[in-house]
Amino acid sequence: MPEIGNTHQVAVQAENLHKSYVLGATAIGALRGVDLVVQRGEFVALMGPSGCGKTTLLNLIGATDLPSRGRLRVDGVDLAGLSDDQLADLRRDRIGIVFQFYNLIPTLTARENVEIPMQFKGTGGAERRRRALSLLERVGLKDRAEHKPAELSGGEQQRVSIARSLANQPALVLLDEPTGDLDSATGSDIIALLRDLNKRERVTLVIATHDASIAEQSSRIVRLRDGRIENDTWIA
Ligand SMILES: Nc1ncnc2c1ncn2[C@@H]1O[C@H](COP(=O)(O)OP(=O)(O)OP(=O)(O)O)[C@@H](O)[C@H]1O
Ligand SMILES: [Mg+2]
Repeated sequence: MPEIGNTHQVAVQAENLHKSYVLGATAIGALRGVDLVVQRGEFVALMGPSGCGKTTLLNLIGATDLPSRGRLRVDGVDLAGLSDDQLADLRRDRIGIVFQFYNLIPTLTARENVEIPMQFKGTGGAERRRRALSLLERVGLKDRAEHKPAELSGGEQQRVSIARSLANQPALVLLDEPTGDLDSATGSDIIALLRDLNKRERVTLVIATHDASIAEQSSRIVRLRDGRIENDTWIA
């Protein structure tokens, strides 16, 4: 039986992870044997050329896609042992996801967007609201809580999506090119926020990025090439 309810020192443990996409008669090996252990509290920059498999790896760790082969544990839970419902619970409770294009619901306010993961979990209305406001304050958007995404700048929308990713206190936050669509000044604000979350609150971060300034703030750079880890460097 998978263990539920524990928190583990190891946030991610991937062994010989493979992912192939079959398109007609050809199979594309997007990941070709990835071994990776991420401890709690690490800040990992996942780098490498376009098409090397960064998004694919995040999708597997985030349990939004299944590996073709290999073993994957997230927060101590072996994903292979989980039913669809258990995978959905794991995504909701233990993993925060931040996309390049924010993925906020346009008809909801910033606060309501942050409340959604808590709503799925069954957190009561008052607690949801309190926590959403405190997360928005945490990302510097207290006075924007009742604004809708279209009334916010790109950087502000990305902050809302970071606040939303933290709603259920996940063991791990995965970010896919979080500064890819932002100008460099706004990008540096986001990077400062991420660094702060990692340093002060020990939020474990795995960030797929082409942005050298994210890599500079990270504690470890994992470089992928052609679906394999080419280089793995810890930064003092
Ligand atoms: N749904 C899919 N169907 C078929 N092939 C896919 C699919 N998703 C990704 N691929 C292929 O898998 C490989 C890895 O793609 P992936 O998106 O993981 O790269 P990436 O490192 O995130 O690139 P980028 O830096 O451009 O975002 C690529 O060759 C890509 O074309
Ligand atoms: Mg990608």
